[in-house]
Amino acid sequence: MQTLIINGQSQQVDVAADMPLLWVLRDVLGLTGTKYGCGIAQCGVCTVHLDGQPIRSCVTPISAVAGRSITTIEAIGETAVGKAVQQAWLAHEVVQCGYCQSGQIMAATALLNSQPTPDDQAIDAAMAGNLCRCATYTRIRTATLRVAVQFCHVEMSLMVCQVSYLRSAECGRVGKVLSGNQVCLASKAPLSRRGMTA
Ligand code: FES
Ligand code: FES
Repeated sequence: MQTLIINGQSQQVDVAADMPLLWVLRDVLGLTGTKYGCGIAQCGVCTVHLDGQPIRSCVTPISAVAGRSITTIEAIGETAVGKAVQQAWLAHEVVQCGYCQSGQIMAATALLNSQPTPDDQAIDAAMAGNLCRCATYTRIRTATLRVAVQFCHVEMSLMVCQVSYLRSAECGRVGKVLSGNQVCLASKAPLSRRGMTA
């Protein structure tokens, strides 16, 4: 018997210790939002969070996650960042067939939790292990940046915001006093960059 903490709930499962977490989620607990793709940690479709970090559940035995906090796509919308990611995905119509998207959302949420203002390169690096056969990569990047813009001044203090700097026209807060004496230093950056204008 293994005790798992999934989406804040303690669950007892009577399965072999080496059963992959993905099998437990889908076949034992009925949490089918997490998908099966390659089964060998190559596609990212099975991504869940373990103590807030993205992992491949298809190659993670449950003995390695017993007693630790597991979050799946079913509960990611209960967090502020996860909810914002899902809303951005809808706003930018990221999803095509949808099969890879629970993994994409889990990966993007983990990135934004650890790095609230990633630039294009950081997003591409963080999402590189999540494959999409429908090639929604450009929309994934745009939606992730949208969330970064939304959260950047909430999470960050005085700093050069990469998102504002690169996409000043999208932010709308460039050069403004944000709170207290915090001013977005991107106001010193050109307002036109990579073809964008203020
Ligand atoms: S199914 Fe886990 S990485 Fe592909
Ligand atoms: S949306 Fe179809 S595989 Fe990604």
